[in-house]
Parts: sequence; structure tokens; C-alpha cells
Amino acid sequence: MDDKPCIVQVPRIYDPRGNLSFIQNGDNGLPFAIERMYWIYDVPAGEERGAHAHRKGKEFIMSLSGSFNVNLFNGKNHLTYTLNRPWEGLYVPPGFWRTLDNFSSGSVCAVLSSTKYDEADYIRSFDEFMSICVHE
Ligand code: TYD
Repeated sequence: MDDKPCIVQVPRIYDPRGNLSFIQNGDNGLPFAIERMYWIYDVPAGEERGAHAHRKGKEFIMSLSGSFNVNLFNGKNHLTYTLNRPWEGLYVPPGFWRTLDNFSSGSVCAVLSSTKYDEADYIRSFDEFMSICVHE
């Protein structure tokens, strides 16, 4: 995998009792070891999350329930991904400005991160992002 955003599917164990998916370090198809998980829920209709980029942190964003959009910007091109399947997620390399919006009622957004929480890894100013982004 080169360092571009991409959808990654995780294992699906079909079962009449209910399906199961999992992810673990070592064989998960992600280009990073998982250091942290956080999740976003109870998002009011019309709200937006994100609006930042990471300097070094890599993330894998999943919808565990419901649906939302992840909008990525590399300084030149815009990409929008709709996440609504609990067996896949979006790998986001460092250096991408991202916003999350269009959350459906009851949706749950889970994020796996390559780093522990570190505010210094965040670029929260769009002007700063535009001044230092290096993507073609
Ligand atoms: P923020 O980065 O604004 O959330 P999002 O980008 O998903 O909309 O984070 C909201 C608050 O939560 C902010 O004060 C930082 C804090 N936070 C942590 O303490 N630990 C974490 O792992 C994360 C992701 C956020």
C-alpha cells in the first residue's frame, strides 16, 4: 500500500447469530500499528467534526453503525468517501485535511490511530495547512 487514502476491508465472519468483524495488529492490512482508538457518536444532524490534519499520525476511520462522509483535501484535490459498512474503513495518511459530515442519526464513527493523543500532531489552522502541505 502506498501512502494514499484507500478503503480497506476487514474480515467478516458471517454467522446466523449475527456477523462479526475484527482488526488486530500484524495482519490487518493497515500500514501502522494501532496505538489508540476513539469514537464519535450522538452527532446532531447537520454537525461537522474533524477540520484538521495530522502531521505524522495515520488513521483508519470506520462506521460501526449508520453512515457519514469523510471529506479529504490534500491541498489540491478533494475526495469524499461515504462510510456505512462495519466491515470496511478508510485509511487516511498524514497530511490530509479532513472533515466528517452528513452523519445519520445514531451513527458511530470509530477511529484507529497510529499515535497516542498529542495535540502537537494536529494542524487545526487551514491557512497553516495550506502553507505546509506537500501533496501534488
Ligand atoms: P477534536 O480533535 O476536535 O475532535 P474531531 O476532530 O474528531 O472533531 O477533539 C475534541 C476534543 O477531544 C479535544 O479537546 C481533544 C480531545 N481528544 C482527546 O483528549 N483524545 C483523543 O484521542 C481525541 C481524538 C480527542
